[in-house]
Amino acid sequence: MSEVRTAICPGTFDPITCGHLDIIERAAALFDRVIVLVAADSGKSAMFTPEERRELARAAVAHLGNVEVDGFDGLLVEYARRADAAAVVKGLRSIDDFDRERQMAMMNRRMLPEVDTVLLVTSPHVQYISSSLVRQIWALGGDVGEFVPGPVADALRRKRRQLQQG
Ligand code: PNS
Repeated sequence: MSEVRTAICPGTFDPITCGHLDIIERAAALFDRVIVLVAADSGKSAMFTPEERRELARAAVAHLGNVEVDGFDGLLVEYARRADAAAVVKGLRSIDDFDRERQMAMMNRRMLPEVDTVLLVTSPHVQYISSSLVRQIWALGGDVGEFVPGPVADALRRKRRQLQQG
C-alpha cells in the first residue's frame, strides 16, 4: 500500500449538498488525499448530467487542497483498487443509511478486503439534508440555497431561469 493514504468519497451527488461537503471536509482532515467519486448512472431521476455533477463537485471542494473529483461507471472496488485507496468514506445520517451502508460495506470488503469502509456520522446541522429532497423542493419552486454549496445554488438559479425563459 502506498505511503499516501487515499480515501474515496463515492456518491451520485445529484447535486452535491452541504451534507456531502461535511463528510468530504472531515475525510480531507483524516486522509492525505481524497477522491470525490461521482457515479455516472444515478439510477434515480437525474437533475444534472454526470459532467455537470462533477463540475459542481469540483467547484464545491475547490477550497480543499487535498481533494480531487473524478467520475466512474463501474464497480467501486475496481476503482478503489486502481487508485490504491486505503478506505471508502461515507456519511451516516440515520438508521436507514446505516442499513444500506452496512450492506454495501460488507459486500465491498468481501470483494476487496484491503479497502475498508469508514462511516462518519453526519454533523447535526446538516443531518436532515438529502439530494433527493433538494431536487424535490427545487422542482416545486422552493429555495434550496441553504442546503447546497454556493456554486450549486448558483447553478440551480441558472437552471430555474432557463426553464422560465424556455
Ligand atoms: O449517492 P448514493 O446513491 O448513496 O451513492 C451510491 C453509490 C454510487 C456510492 C453506490 O451505488 C456504488 O458504490 N455504486 C457503484 C457500483 C458498485 O460498486 N456497486 C456495488 C456496491 S456493493
